[in-house]
Amino acid sequence: MLPMSSDLPYNTIDQLLLAARAARLNGYAPYSNYLVGAAVLDDQGRVHVGCNVENAAYPEGLCAEAGALSAMVVAGSTRAHAVLVVGTGGTWVTPCGGCRQKLREFCAPEAPILTASDTEMGPRYTLAQLLPQSYGPSHLGLP
Ligand code: THU
Repeated sequence: MLPMSSDLPYNTIDQLLLAARAARLNGYAPYSNYLVGAAVLDDQGRVHVGCNVENAAYPEGLCAEAGALSAMVVAGSTRAHAVLVVGTGGTWVTPCGGCRQKLREFCAPEAPILTASDTEMGPRYTLAQLLPQSYGPSHLGLP
């Protein structure tokens, strides 16, 4: 059962969840065996997905959120209205520290970041909750 959301319609959450779950299945995680999928809703209502892509040189691996944000930018958008991340196993995944900063570049402070596990939705946060007092474009004079 998906939670209702005040500013994200039920069917949009469902769309993000299905997209992130499908992306997760294409993850490449032979080292951690922890597949992650991410779906980003952009300012045009489009959904972009990413999966984690690991590497034998471990630090070179990519997180699912990074892939989804890259797909969004390639498609011509730099505003993410909502993000959903799905991990492996019974516990939901929350974006890692590096991904929080990457999301910060393209999300408003109040943008919803939804979490999920294989089987259920997890807690919902705002970007500002995940990355308070953050550093961002305004520090460098950008809007
Ligand atoms: N991972 C993500 O894709 N996103 C996160 O926010 C957390 C971690 C991936 C990285 C690595 O491939 C695997 O999960 C185990 O840490």
